[in-house]
Amino acid sequence: MTISIVTRPRRNRVSESMRNLVRENSLSTSDLIMPLFVIEGQNQKQPVESMPGVDRLSSDLVVEKCKELYDLQIPAVVLFPALDDSKKDPSAKESANESGLYHSTLRAVKEAVPGITLITDVAMDPYSSDGHDGVVNEKGEIVNDETLPILAKMAVSQARSGADIIAPSDMMDGRVGYIREALDAEGFMNVGIMAYSAKYASAYYGPFRDALDSAPKHGDKKTYQMDPANVKEAQREVLLDLEEGADVVMVKPGLPYLDVVRAVSEVSDVPVAVYNVSGEYAMVKAAGLKGWIDYEKVVLETLTAFKRAGADMILSYHAVEAALWLNQ
Ligand code: PBG
Repeated sequence: MTISIVTRPRRNRVSESMRNLVRENSLSTSDLIMPLFVIEGQNQKQPVESMPGVDRLSSDLVVEKCKELYDLQIPAVVLFPALDDSKKDPSAKESANESGLYHSTLRAVKEAVPGITLITDVAMDPYSSDGHDGVVNEKGEIVNDETLPILAKMAVSQARSGADIIAPSDMMDGRVGYIREALDAEGFMNVGIMAYSAKYASAYYGPFRDALDSAPKHGDKKTYQMDPANVKEAQREVLLDLEEGADVVMVKPGLPYLDVVRAVSEVSDVPVAVYNVSGEYAMVKAAGLKGWIDYEKVVLETLTAFKRAGADMILSYHAVEAALWLNQ
């Protein structure tokens, strides 16, 4: 039998080639950014227990991994340092130590793989004995303005060690403009800023804090990271960061915040990044290892969903695996 309807959307899905022709969004390796965790030592590889398949790597192995990323045509890497408690203090002094682990790793990567875009993290938490992204005062408050010079010094020192893009993940007010000015004053006008503009106070960061042992020693991050219930506030944060000179704005976490990615992409005139964070990776990886989902298909579907929501680039611990599948 045939019913009389003129419009049959299924006509555009009849074959693989037809589906290829009408596809609205596509995922490619050039959309991906791989986060890596750096540790002290030589030839050291320490698994992150809550992120199966992800290791903390010593500098030499980070360099090897960056060569692999570059060969896979993943354009960028973002590095995070996992430091011993003895290197942490209330003012995050180690964060601007140009002969320390982080900066020497930056130089090693830049020398070995000059073509890769090297993104650095700016925030106090990996270096702070308080485990907060900003300075903590006697009352236990995270103080905004006192934090800015520390962030700016960190950013300039990273630029000096070869960073191409500075990514402030701290959520202090005014830090994008403050860092921009500091970079320009030192002649780093070509070093970009990827602002974590809409970063939420999220429980999805748990495995990352395990990886860096960077969980707050007291309190939470709710006075600087955003309330998960808000979306207009994300647009406001983005507009402020754009005024302050951000080159890329970011939404984080990713999967539970696709509406925020959409809202941000509507107001941003610069590219939008999304961070597919550690807890999102852990959930999908765990279900994949259990055999409860088809891991490869779920990962590619998830990454494509970020593109559909309006993201131009995706930070993801799945990046290497995804690139291997996409390049097949
Ligand atoms: C902190 C920072 C965090 C992440 C990136 N930078 C965690 C936090 O704010 O506590 C999380 C990334 C992830 O979960 O993958 N500056």
